[in-house]
Amino acid sequence: MSMRKIKIFDTTLRDGEQSPGCSMNLQEKLDIARQLVRLGVDVIEAGFPASSKGDAEAVTAIASAVKGAVVCALARCVRSDIDAAAKALSQAEHPRIHVFIATSEIHMQYKLKMSREQVLDAVRECVSYARSLCGDVQFSAEDATRSDRGFLCRVLQTAADAGAATLNIPDTVGYTTPAEMASLIEYVKEHVKGADSLTLAAHCHNDLGLAVANSLSAVAAGAGQVECTVNGIGERAGNAALEEIVMGLKIRGDATDACTGVDTTQIYRTSRLVYATVGAHAPKNKPIVGDNAFSHEAGIHQHGVMNDRRTYEIMRPEDIGVTERNMSLGKHSGRHAFEKRLAELGYTPDKAQLDAYFEKFKELADRKKDITDRDLEAIASERAVRQDVFTLDRFTVQAGNRSTPTCVIRLEKNGEKFEDVAIGDGPVDAAYKAVDKIICPPDHELYDYSIHSISGGKDALGEVTVKLRMKNGTVTGRGLSTDVIEASILAYINAVNRMLERADDEK
Ligand code: KIV
Ligand code: ZN
Repeated sequence: MSMRKIKIFDTTLRDGEQSPGCSMNLQEKLDIARQLVRLGVDVIEAGFPASSKGDAEAVTAIASAVKGAVVCALARCVRSDIDAAAKALSQAEHPRIHVFIATSEIHMQYKLKMSREQVLDAVRECVSYARSLCGDVQFSAEDATRSDRGFLCRVLQTAADAGAATLNIPDTVGYTTPAEMASLIEYVKEHVKGADSLTLAAHCHNDLGLAVANSLSAVAAGAGQVECTVNGIGERAGNAALEEIVMGLKIRGDATDACTGVDTTQIYRTSRLVYATVGAHAPKNKPIVGDNAFSHEAGIHQHGVMNDRRTYEIMRPEDIGVTERNMSLGKHSGRHAFEKRLAELGYTPDKAQLDAYFEKFKELADRKKDITDRDLEAIASERAVRQDVFTLDRFTVQAGNRSTPTCVIRLEKNGEKFEDVAIGDGPVDAAYKAVDKIICPPDHELYDYSIHSISGGKDALGEVTVKLRMKNGTVTGRGLSTDVIEASILAYINAVNRMLERADDEK
């Protein structure tokens, strides 16, 4: 008997992006959406158009660019939200409107201030309104796992009768357990008429670390769609991680009687892209994509793996697209070899991007003997910024334990050079103050600074990530260099450029 194919509904660009420190610009969202198509997800939730102008623009752009997958937009149970979602999806090949309202007593009483009957009326009215604008409507009962089951089923029945083809059961606060989730799915199947011909979905948050387990349990109980984010990014402790669900279903399809249409060899690359975009790194022991996910330290394990990998490995690095990392390029490598290796790693930049990457590669090769695949990935996941931005021309820092750290910096914008000097608590602080004197960015607070070494060795490429908080949100900047002060300056300039870009977009 063939296995049930489960739909993978990716909400990295909506539930993932709305979590602090994970905001993305339009170009980044488009790059991720395109990568999600390569990965083979069924549905891309591209944003919440009524929530901001930026979200509406992102959904509109993704809807026009993405072919193959369903593009979904979120809307509260109000007409104006549904109008905004329909408008943003107007160019989509396969549009879906996702309408949600809370159904738990605590949410209805304290957040919505609505009675049960009012919620039922809103669902009836809004789902049918959404259906009049879009052939594919999904309904979510927010906080479903803390809702009264009988009432939840009345709400889901109302949504189904009004035309929703997918009924989603979110564990909004990450409260449920695997057994409870399975019994809830079974309850809904039993109590909602016509549930067999609808798709039931699970959307699990990870507050108790159970999001993936709860999702797999929902699938085993009959859910036909799971909602997840790449690397599990999302509100608080995050959402269920796509890569863990997909590999869970691939390796243990026997336990769930289910499979997905995802091309798992795209998982690693997708994960790296999302981490690079939000300025984070996988914890080393992160399942599937962490650095240690396939390494064996204990002698007894190494011995077993040498004899037969299957002794201690339930999946192979190649299954998620991790290629052999024994090849390195150097300063004599030509453009062709560079382009070929990038393609083998899954990156196919256009000509302008390739020129920029190659220039960066050459600069790096002058300072670093062997350029590894990791270095190449770091170069190729550098995010593009617009042309009219500040770039670093040169800098000098003076620092020491008995001198005042000072930085002289020269930036360039549209061919014009700007120079200034500042002192600070350390060389990086002095450099940032000098940059501020030149650019005069809007008020902000630097709330996160991290440094990460990309590959091993003394000449390792350092990657600095800075996060700035402004009045209207956060931006992330990233800088790469073998010199950590330079990487720090590049990261800050990158973040400030993004801040200016955001301020421009909001005009
Ligand atoms: O967690 C949640 O309940 C949600 C809904 C909007 C689906 O994200
Ligand atoms: Zn959610």
